Order: sequence, then structure tokens, then C-alpha cells
Amino acid sequence: MTFEIRDIHKSFAGTEVLKGVSLSLEKGEFIALLGPSGSGKTTLLNIVAGLAHADSGSLVFDGEDITRQPAGQRHFGMVFQSYALFRHMTVAQNIGFGLKVMKGGPSRAEIDRRVAELLEMIELPGLADRFPAQLSGGQRQRVAMARALAIRPRLLLMDEPFSALDAQVRVSLRSEVRALQRRAGVGAIMVTHDRAEADALADRIAIMDQGRIVTIETPEQVA
Ligand SMILES: Nc1ncnc2c1ncn2[C@@H]1O[C@H](COP(=O)(O)OP(=O)(O)OP(=O)(O)O)[C@@H](O)[C@H]1O
Ligand SMILES: [Mg+2]
Repeated sequence: MTFEIRDIHKSFAGTEVLKGVSLSLEKGEFIALLGPSGSGKTTLLNIVAGLAHADSGSLVFDGEDITRQPAGQRHFGMVFQSYALFRHMTVAQNIGFGLKVMKGGPSRAEIDRRVAELLEMIELPGLADRFPAQLSGGQRQRVAMARALAIRPRLLLMDEPFSALDAQVRVSLRSEVRALQRRAGVGAIMVTHDRAEADALADRIAIMDQGRIVTIETPEQVA
């Protein structure tokens, strides 16, 4: 797997918020996008996800130009700041949702099997029938992660996935997410404000400022 972001430009109402962003991802690589508020991190992630469109530039996945491919066809997993679980669905239904709506997707029995496997993976096997309102923030975040991974995405996109959590839960979830991402063997792009989080999770850290990637760093060794 290789993924290339090539010279992306994006303006809102005449103000350029992405000024030629390029970045490439190797197989299984975890990249953090780190930078101050307003630097363009979410805009870039939304363009990668297909939720927004660039004014110019391109996205190339394994040699295929996906710049204009609709979000639903990209087969990317997404986790957002607000978890955005479906409130009226149980944990199991949330995790299975992407598989259920997939065109030519797996059978009911296969979905049940996958969901059970993911519940084991996030260590919440007893919570299949709970609703999101009956979970802690950390548990919801794990369900959101399992839901994103359920479709076996080609790329995992996360926008401040831990920001709603307190410091202690954050730290313990970080290592879980890293382990899940590794086990799934999937490349990941995570937006964060938090240098320590980027250091703990990423293989490389792309520092954004005012619509540009200004440097790419390797993480500080963390004990
Ligand atoms: N839909 C929109 N319409 C107009 N301006 C927008 C829109 N979305 C983002 N912007 C502007 O683009 C710039 C970059 O926003 P973006 O959300 O990408 O920043 P960010 O790096 O994710 O910031 P934060 O860390 O606060 O989430 C900001 O100045 C923002 O006000
Ligand atoms: Mg943002």
C-alpha cells in the first residue's frame, strides 16, 4: 500500500487554507498531523476522506487516482473527535454497520462473527447489547475504533480521536489504538494538537502551520 497526497490546495471564500500540501504514506505507516488550531489539519483529513474536495492537487492510492472518488468508495475507516456513534444502535450494531451497508458485503453470520472478533479485540465482549449512552467515554472511543476497523479499511483516518477523554484514559487508549492499528496492518493518519500523543503513536510527524507541512519529524523516544 502506498498513499500519496500531491500538492493539495484549498480555499474557503478566497482565503487559502491549504497551500500546496504533499505527503506520502508507506504500507502500515502511522502519520500524525500536528499543528496549531486553524493550520488546516481537519481540512486536509476531510479531503483525504472524500468529505471535502480540493481545488487542485491529487490523491493517489496504490497508483490509482482517487481524487474524485466518492467517500463511500474509498474504503477508508474514520474516527472523529465526537465519536459519532449511532445513538439508537447497540454497540454490536454500531460495529457491524459498515459491513451491513456494504455493497456485496458479508453475510449476516459473517458480520456477527466479525463483530464478536472486534469486541474481543477492544476487550469489551460483554457490552455488545449496550447503547452508546450506557458507555464511558473511553469505551465509546474503543467502539468507534472497532467500527472504523470493521470494514478492514485500506487507510484509517482519525481527527483528534482522544480529545474528549481525560488524561489518564487518553494514555491507556493510545497504546491500545497503536496495537489495533498494528494488528490490522493498516496505514493511519491522525490529527492531533498534542505532541506527546504524536510521539507515542506515530512513525512520522508532519508539522502543519498556516496551510503547509513545514517539517516532517520522527517521534521523540518515549519510555
Ligand atoms: N467550511 C469552512 N468554511 C470556511 N472556512 C473554513 C471552513 N472549514 C475550515 N475553515 C477555515 O480553514 C482554516 C483551517 O481549518 P481547519 O479546521 O482545517 O483547522 P485545524 O488545523 O483542524 O484546527 P483545529 O486544531 O482548531 O481543529 C481555519 O481558518 C478555518 O476557519
Ligand atoms: Mg481540526
